[in-house]
Amino acid sequence: MHFLSDDLDQYIVQHSENEPELLQQLTRETYQKILQPRMLSGHYQGRVLSILSKLVSPKSILEIGTYTGYSALCLAEGMQPKGELHTIDINEELYDFQRKYFDLSPYGKQIHQHLGNALEIIPKLNTTFDLVFIDADKDNYTKYFKLIIDKLNSGGIILSDNVLWSGKVLDTKFKKEDTSTPALIEYNKLLKKDPRVETVVLPIRDGLTISRMI
Ligand SMILES: C[S@@+](CC[C@H](N)C(=O)[O-])C[C@H]1O[C@@H](n2cnc3c(N)ncnc32)[C@H](O)[C@@H]1O
Repeated sequence: MHFLSDDLDQYIVQHSENEPELLQQLTRETYQKILQPRMLSGHYQGRVLSILSKLVSPKSILEIGTYTGYSALCLAEGMQPKGELHTIDINEELYDFQRKYFDLSPYGKQIHQHLGNALEIIPKLNTTFDLVFIDADKDNYTKYFKLIIDKLNSGGIILSDNVLWSGKVLDTKFKKEDTSTPALIEYNKLLKKDPRVETVVLPIRDGLTISRMI
């Protein structure tokens, strides 16, 4: 969902950084070959992730939900020269596609793919992070937060995607089978209340929250 008019949306994209050629290529191939291509961050949100990562200048990044690698490559742009990015996805069919694009980028050797359920993988990661991007299954956002908060360095940043869930977070009644909306409502409340982080929700695309470890 876009919260702005199409014209204004277009204007914003036109007056923001261009999309790097490699990411245009990755997007084309994702749309040709992979199911649910709309999951990819895309030009504008990708540039937002890139500039936020450059502002943080992280030594270590964790991404939960790689998909075809678009957002990982955007976050990697801000990584320190010897930095490392760990990215987790449960879908093994995406693994070779991700590796192909990571290796076409300057960051191939610094990007570590983890295949499996993030809930099981995160506790095994023996490192701390300056920047975390949460963009996997919405039902587990709260669990991800609880797993990563103790691995976040002081001043570290958590970015959480899709927190407005096409505006459905305003719904008071949702279908019984819709577990993601109540999960995101709870997650947004948790971020607001948790004294360990300061949080701002940005109305970018489907909602992007920035939480900073105090
Ligand atoms: C929205 S897509 C990620 C998009 C990507 N961050 C980007 O912007 O290009 C969500 C991804 O999370 C993965 N995923 C879902 N549940 C997961 C879990 N429990 N553990 C790890 N990955 C999971 C899916 O396979 C999917 O590729």
